[in-house]
Amino acid sequence: MAAIKLAEGIYSVGVFNPNLRLFDIVMPTEYGTSYNAYLVKGEKTALIETVHLDFFDQYLANIKEVTPLEEIDYLIMNHNEPDHSGSVAKLMELIPNLKVVASQAGSLYLKNITNNKSLAVTVVKDGESIDLGGKTLSFINAPFLHWPDSMFTYVPENEALFSCDFLGSHYCETTMLDTSILPRYKAAYDSAMLGYYTAIFGPFKPYVLKGLEKLKDLSLAFVATSHGPVLTKEGFLPEVMEKYRVWSTSAVRETKQIPLFYCSAYGNTAQLAEAIASGIRETLPDAEVACYDLTEQNMGEMGALLNASDAFLVGSPTLNRDAVPPVWMLLAHIDAINIAKRPAALFGSYGWSGEACKNLRARLEGLKVNVYAEDFRVTFVPSEEELANAKAFGAAFAATLA
Ligand code: FEO
Repeated sequence: MAAIKLAEGIYSVGVFNPNLRLFDIVMPTEYGTSYNAYLVKGEKTALIETVHLDFFDQYLANIKEVTPLEEIDYLIMNHNEPDHSGSVAKLMELIPNLKVVASQAGSLYLKNITNNKSLAVTVVKDGESIDLGGKTLSFINAPFLHWPDSMFTYVPENEALFSCDFLGSHYCETTMLDTSILPRYKAAYDSAMLGYYTAIFGPFKPYVLKGLEKLKDLSLAFVATSHGPVLTKEGFLPEVMEKYRVWSTSAVRETKQIPLFYCSAYGNTAQLAEAIASGIRETLPDAEVACYDLTEQNMGEMGALLNASDAFLVGSPTLNRDAVPPVWMLLAHIDAINIAKRPAALFGSYGWSGEACKNLRARLEGLKVNVYAEDFRVTFVPSEEELANAKAFGAAFAATLA
């Protein structure tokens, strides 16, 4: 890849990784990604972010196409996760006088990421700016979009916003322009953008709305994100911003959603799920109560359902002194940032010692979930009396939600 001119004095100098299929261990990237970085040239010159360390040489070659290294004055780090900050230490070896600029939180992270406690970082606050001569870099705090250190950089002369992860996508577009994405690839881009939003910004919806509010009065010709194509006014920018707004706005629900998730080897825990559900329905007739056998469901959808619930229940048999793997997989999808205080309850059939509920409780309480004081457990096959007790258990749990 070579450097790409985006506007007068603004260049893309990042790198493409079209073959990446898993980002940060957990995010599928069917369409690859890009580690974007930019160069802003006024009388002085600023780099906006670095790239993943694996791609440093290509990044360096791209920069040199635009300007000699010794002419670069500033490195602006809008966010310091290592996919953007991984090359800072190496870059500073080549440009020792580079002035690194970040938020207060970013300055702390950078010292640890570079393992240089005496690294000089210029800390900028919301509303402050740096005059490059013919170009201004104005800084906008954007906390939790998606890290505490996140900020945006705005260049008013070009109506250009550098937003780091915000509004980005894991979609490798080698022209760097959204206007190059052909209509037949739009659905692929949309899917990548939604997956990216869900994984990265889903836990931070109130902050997304605050971030959009801060951008509301800015003139934006384009938003240069740090993954995926640059979003332009003529291209996808208005649509992506509106989608972020809609996805981050909680729908007002008339009814409570109370899903029961379970696994059942021989149908015993399944029977408990149905009996408990009937007790919940009796106490809360307007609630949406449904049972989900995790072995028959899409785990991502189940995780989303759990995260959006008003309360949830989890049932597992005990296998080798533990809950079974699909149940743990469900809990791996929990939005740990927003789950605190959510009411939950546990149940399950077991044969010997029945540790599943105890272990699930430890995990959920560790996430500060409000786990109902009792678990409902039976040995082997539930009797009629035990099914009636399960129904009463559901009714009692539901009464705490009314
Ligand atoms: Fe693309 Fe949060 O780093």
